[in-house]
Amino acid sequence: MSGRDSARKDDHVRISEELRNVQHNGFDDIRFMHQSFNELSRESVDISTSVTGSPWQVPFYINAMTGGSEMTGRINADLAKAAATAGVAMASGSVSVALKDPSLAPSFEVIRENAPEAFIFANVGPTVTAENARRAVQLLDANALQVHVNPAQELVMPEGDHDFRGWLDRIEEIVAEVPVPVVVKEVGFGLSSKSIAQVRAHGVHTVDVSGRGGTDFAAIEKRRRGDRAYSYLAGWGQSTVECLLETLGDFPVQPANPRHHVEILASGGVRSPFDVVRALAMGARAVGVSGHFLHLLIEEGIEALISELTSWTEEVRTLMTLLGTPNVPALLQTDLLVSGKTAEFANLRGID
Ligand code: FNR
Repeated sequence: MSGRDSARKDDHVRISEELRNVQHNGFDDIRFMHQSFNELSRESVDISTSVTGSPWQVPFYINAMTGGSEMTGRINADLAKAAATAGVAMASGSVSVALKDPSLAPSFEVIRENAPEAFIFANVGPTVTAENARRAVQLLDANALQVHVNPAQELVMPEGDHDFRGWLDRIEEIVAEVPVPVVVKEVGFGLSSKSIAQVRAHGVHTVDVSGRGGTDFAAIEKRRRGDRAYSYLAGWGQSTVECLLETLGDFPVQPANPRHHVEILASGGVRSPFDVVRALAMGARAVGVSGHFLHLLIEEGIEALISELTSWTEEVRTLMTLLGTPNVPALLQTDLLVSGKTAEFANLRGID
């Protein structure tokens, strides 16, 4: 069993590397109105944010990817070293395989070993027991737990879960059992406002919309199977900016009624510090990146990844200066211009 699990984890890394950059990316539909008088010094710009009540120095993070084999353990160790050096948060890949087979646990434990001070998310699916979710948090000494919801991926995997009954109730049990905040995330198909309202009603206060535009698990699983089935599902779901536009209307950052408050994280197709700033301006508290950082690590090594993380931090500060925004919440006041397919989506959904 675990040999097959480990091979699947290695396949995901290899195939996501082969399939990169094939889709239209909604971030390109978002522009800012340029202003010439900023009345701001670059040094005074504060790029920090807070997520699930914890302060973060940097408003982007290395999002969930891997673990569960020797190769992916080495990747996790390098990602964690880079995260620690650059002061960014990081998520593990799904820990479920290590809960089934403890011999795979070291490929996840390396994360905390190499990033003792970092903000770390553990990651599980919504089918683990609440007790196993707690063990996943313990294994990484995690600050928060991501629960990934991935029906599109499960359905196209022959060995995937094809019975989705009880996910919301299980998420509620996990929230009650684990001693850290729980974040529900998609895996690149996008959380709709309706899905967010459903998890909010089951006790979840933070979500990562993780939309379409980057890593596409329908395409990855199709390539793994090596046949043509489900090829029309490539590109399924809402883009990250479509999700953000929808949530900004339905879950305002400062709602009149606090019961409507949900903390929004964004990921899916983020390629640059410009995309990070776009997502922050559309209401995200912080922005997750998987594919881009993984490709850089695999192709150019850990030093290149550290230098990218450091450079992104500086570039976010520069862009915020250009936009005249002294801090992350101020980005919500910028004027955004929405065009192309994203404007079409907003029109269809009746979003101003
Ligand atoms: C992922 N992703 C993911 N997500 C999750 O919650 N648990 C997981 O185990 C994995 N595994 C995984 C493996 C690999 C190789 C990649 C590239 C991605 C999904 C990831 O966290 C994110 O939601 C999507 O990849 C979209 O972001 P990017 O890649 O477009 O930045």
